[in-house]
Amino acid sequence: MKRRVAVLGATGIVGQRFVQFLADHPWFELELVMASERSAGKIYAQAVTWVLEKPIPKKAYELKLYPIDIDLVAKEKIDIVFTALPADVAKELEPQLAKKGIIVVSNASSMRLESDVPLLNPEVNADHVDAIEVQRRNRGWSGAIVKVPNCTTAIATLSLKPLVDVFGVGKVIVSTMQALSGAGLTGVPSMFILDNLIPYIEGEEEKVENESRKILGIFNGNNIEFNKEISVTASCHRVMVLEGHTEAIFAELKSKTSMDEIIKVMEEFKSNKIKNMGLPTAPEKPIVVRREIDRPQPRLDRLEGNGMSIVVGRVREDKTLNGVKYVVLGHNTIRGAAGTGVLIAELLVKKGYA
Ligand SMILES: NC(=O)c1ccc[n+]([C@@H]2O[C@H](COP(=O)([O-])OP(=O)(O)OC[C@H]3O[C@@H](n4cnc5c(N)ncnc54)[C@H](OP(=O)(O)O)[C@@H]3O)[C@@H](O)[C@H]2O)c1
Repeated sequence: MKRRVAVLGATGIVGQRFVQFLADHPWFELELVMASERSAGKIYAQAVTWVLEKPIPKKAYELKLYPIDIDLVAKEKIDIVFTALPADVAKELEPQLAKKGIIVVSNASSMRLESDVPLLNPEVNADHVDAIEVQRRNRGWSGAIVKVPNCTTAIATLSLKPLVDVFGVGKVIVSTMQALSGAGLTGVPSMFILDNLIPYIEGEEEKVENESRKILGIFNGNNIEFNKEISVTASCHRVMVLEGHTEAIFAELKSKTSMDEIIKVMEEFKSNKIKNMGLPTAPEKPIVVRREIDRPQPRLDRLEGNGMSIVVGRVREDKTLNGVKYVVLGHNTIRGAAGTGVLIAELLVKKGYA
């Protein structure tokens, strides 16, 4: 039986990706779309400023757009709510939905670091999903809140996971070149970014530094423990690219190895956490490695694996950190937001939480 789902913040850049991924999904039926009062009462196609490469899916075109209304979500018997709302709105709203017994898969940064809230990048830490049981006990609700990681962090942690598992990782330096769509539909005015870059993204560096250690940590049955072996430092920058975050990563490795071995481990990474689960949105190859000296590039590589694969290139030895340095690219609104949100929901269905 298909799960009934809703998208809150459906008119935004991440909301549009959710609508795109959910409209024809084999396990989910998109029943409800909500946004701010501004758009309420219109049909979806009238209200949204659609910016994706394919047209608005037929299924969503005529859906009525509602203002956020928790009672309506409950009345419509929605099983899973996908939220793509500003963090301050999500912070108030999401616990109320969970109290109504609804499963919330959220892109907002609120609650991401709480120890009973799974922060899931499924190929990396699908086993953290069982923290839902602790969350339900702690908070006395029958629903759940599960968080999608920050976009930059989702891409970085997926690339680091095979290195952590096989060689061990200590210090990590991340320097980013992040797309405009990461700042939302009306994010960065053209006067500020044309012929330019902006060497600051509010809150982003802290998110990469802290969330990475949670995602690469362990669920001990009571709470999620942050990884103590890894320390991450980040410098984040906005560049004039529409979609696709590029990150230069420098990682200290605990054991000595060759660059060929690192490439092999990355290419063969097939997360044993979700392998054989048959999740429709899981990419066949989570990490694609390119050998060309000038790849990955956002325009050419961001839709690899339907936007769910990350693309690694320029893998080379780092003598300063005794490890490796490489460039990784991922689609920020797909792998870094809605695509991973849908993959998480598929995991929740498979594990019996939704
Ligand atoms: N963009 C990315 O790459 C990315 C990646 C990861 C996570 N995120 C996170 O995902 C969330 C959404 O980001 P976005 O980039 O999609 O932003 P966005 O394009 O600005 O969209 C925001 C959405 O929230 C709605 N909204 C705004 N204020 C509201 C309010 N007070 N009440 C109800 N709805 C409200 C908007 O509706 P109206 O159209 O009606 O105003 C719109 O649908 C944010 O928390 C962001 O940090 C974004």
